[in-house]
Amino acid sequence: MSTRSGRLLSIIACLLFCCAVASAEDAPPDQATAARMMDDLMYGRGTVGGPFTLTDQAGRKRSDGEFRGKLMIVYFGYTFCPDVCPADLMAITQALDELGPLASQVQPIFITVDPERDTKVLSDYVAAFHRSFVGLTGTAEEIRKVANAYKAFYAKVPGGRDGDYAIDHTGVIYLMGRDGEYLGFMPPQTGPERLIEILRKYLAR
Ligand code: NI
Repeated sequence: MSTRSGRLLSIIACLLFCCAVASAEDAPPDQATAARMMDDLMYGRGTVGGPFTLTDQAGRKRSDGEFRGKLMIVYFGYTFCPDVCPADLMAITQALDELGPLASQVQPIFITVDPERDTKVLSDYVAAFHRSFVGLTGTAEEIRKVANAYKAFYAKVPGGRDGDYAIDHTGVIYLMGRDGEYLGFMPPQTGPERLIEILRKYLAR
């Protein structure tokens, strides 16, 4: 199986998993946009990434520019995510632990797609993963803008009690280069061994 079809399958698997909670009637109105975004991402159409300024888990403004010189791992998710996000963040954590001192040249960034609920909880959440994680939040508009720039889809899926909701979201792991350039993405549930392999390759350049 080619890498591309492997990626395609993983993304479809993720979307199926994420959408499983939503019935057809609940499908977000921008579903076509989601499909197009995934398509553009998979086939490398257009640009991915770009400048951002968001607020970190300590309430400080952080911009992409301050991470120049390091590889940047960017992950969009939310702290209430039941299992996909934590599993991917754990894989990133294990890979960074395994890299030892080289990990100082890699900046992992978690951007919440649930700024409404991920307020104070963000700090404890990212602290549960690698110590170098920066957790970012912002206004709904700021988050949407950054997510669009990364072709990361997300939409609320109502359900449960008391106005509870889940968020259907793209769960890929983005890798950006030392100059902030887009290097590529790794599918959801990429294991730490594969992450290390890819990180080492780019760190050696
Ligand atoms: Ni998730």
